[in-house]
Amino acid sequence: ENDVVAKIDAKRQESLLGGGLKRIETQHKKARTPFLLQSRWLLFVPSLDKGKLTARERIEVLLDAGSFREYDAFVEHNCVDFGMEKQKITGDGVVTGHGTINGRRVFLFSQDFTAFGGSLSNTHAQKIVKVMDKALLVGAPVIGLNDSGGARIQEGVESLAGYADIFLKNVMSSGVVPQISLIMGPCAGGAVYSPALTDFTFMVRDTSYLFVTGPDVVKTVTKEEVTQEELGGAKAHTVKSGVAHNAFENDVEALQRLRDFVDFLPLSNRESAPVRYTDDSSNREDASLNHIVPVDSTKAYDIKDVITRLVDDSNFFEIMPDYAKNIVIGFARMGGRTVSIIANQPLVSSGVLDINSSVKAARFVRFADAFNIPILTLVDVPGFLPGTAQEHNGIIRHGAKLLYAYAEATVPKVTVITRKAYGGAYDVMSSKHLRGDLNYAWPSAEIAVMGAKGAVEIIFRSSADRASAEKDYISKFANPLPAAQRGYIDDVIEPSSTRRRIIEDLEMLRSKKQENPKRKHGNIPL
Ligand code: COA
Repeated sequence: ENDVVAKIDAKRQESLLGGGLKRIETQHKKARTPFLLQSRWLLFVPSLDKGKLTARERIEVLLDAGSFREYDAFVEHNCVDFGMEKQKITGDGVVTGHGTINGRRVFLFSQDFTAFGGSLSNTHAQKIVKVMDKALLVGAPVIGLNDSGGARIQEGVESLAGYADIFLKNVMSSGVVPQISLIMGPCAGGAVYSPALTDFTFMVRDTSYLFVTGPDVVKTVTKEEVTQEELGGAKAHTVKSGVAHNAFENDVEALQRLRDFVDFLPLSNRESAPVRYTDDSSNREDASLNHIVPVDSTKAYDIKDVITRLVDDSNFFEIMPDYAKNIVIGFARMGGRTVSIIANQPLVSSGVLDINSSVKAARFVRFADAFNIPILTLVDVPGFLPGTAQEHNGIIRHGAKLLYAYAEATVPKVTVITRKAYGGAYDVMSSKHLRGDLNYAWPSAEIAVMGAKGAVEIIFRSSADRASAEKDYISKFANPLPAAQRGYIDDVIEPSSTRRRIIEDLEMLRSKKQENPKRKHGNIPL
């Protein structure tokens, strides 16, 4: 009997070491940048700051101390090809289980690159599926820490079957529990589609990459020469492709930021986000907001300065900060409760809506709606971006996504027009007509079909006195009154009072109940 206990103990010890000390050392040495590697200073940098952590170290940083409960530590693969029957690593390249972040339950899996390169065997996949199932059952988020060489090559189709099992769970969990991926190493081939199906994908700079096919295949097929970093590094995906939602400097920072992020989210679609009390008074007025919008309506200002003045403790967790910067999205709290914020950014291309910004915001609106998070929309939009590039790439189809997302959303929706709300973009940006609950305008608001210059060009084309026609148009439309007189905005508010007003409304709207017609699912223009 003692034999059995000793054997179990030995196996458990083995599982703690994954692929062994030598490979752990290699993992720690995988430094952020070749530059740092060459630098003598690296000798003085603790490896935990700049190198990659192991699967278990990452869990330690992510979860509350001592909260991790592991499942399936003893699992081994059952492949008998290519001599694999002689090569078994206890745990099979992934550590799975649950624990807490600031006291709230999350399920997670952390791939262990030291064990078969973190590659996915069928049993490795079943470990992941098991935690996803449990998370769905009890209603808790799933966090994936990805660091894997992809499909376990020795297993062939068994491994591909494992991926598909995970994909199916990802889809079934979508909109039920939040799913978050943090890419902390390679993630290539079929492996990319699980992160792609999750709600948020974060990356670590310089040590993580995502691509469907690597540089060698790219060279064979398209003759392009490209490095891993250029093809699928954090920059490629946070700036160009929009595949990743943010990137962080190193493993430790990424995991700590992930803790902050999870704190904004409800555990499932059956719950609301946690309340985090604050000293920042709900009645706080901010006089500087009265002057933040420049008098000259062609002048830019930073909408993030407005956001940080409105929310609790200026704490705004921006999502996709480097992609389609003409729209700003992210989470914050107001009166202690999570709000999702969508705001046109006048600082970048005048805050115009284009394909990328529409898609970026649309997916965010749908996440918020699926998870009971109220939506605050700040509007300063000159319209949709004109041009053949946009038209031929489908701005109509993509712009419709944002329109669709806002229209179907039944969570509380509060909208503030700070300045321009022109054309179809006025309708799209959470207008009254799409069931906006409270729609406000600041005195600086201009709500019209288009700006004065363009309008006069069209309707007073033959007029001799265009200047006076333009003046006329401005006095008629460059103010919030016409919309207020029709009830399309509920009130014109003093900018300094905006925080208080929004918090009051969100409090009132907490009991909002709205349902869409029954159907299998809608058909959002994809
Ligand atoms: N299947 C089985 N074993 C794998 C693997 C896979 N897909 N990917 C990596 N490994 C193993 C390696 O054989 C190596 O084993 P060892 O430690 O016993 O020598 C270990 O994992 C580490 O891999 P290595 O290549 O030394 O690491 P690296 O950091 O130099 O390179 C990759 C990492 C991911 C770029 C490289 O391993 C790779 O190209 N893997 C294959 C990727 C792929 O095409 N997968 C299929 C896509 S679905």
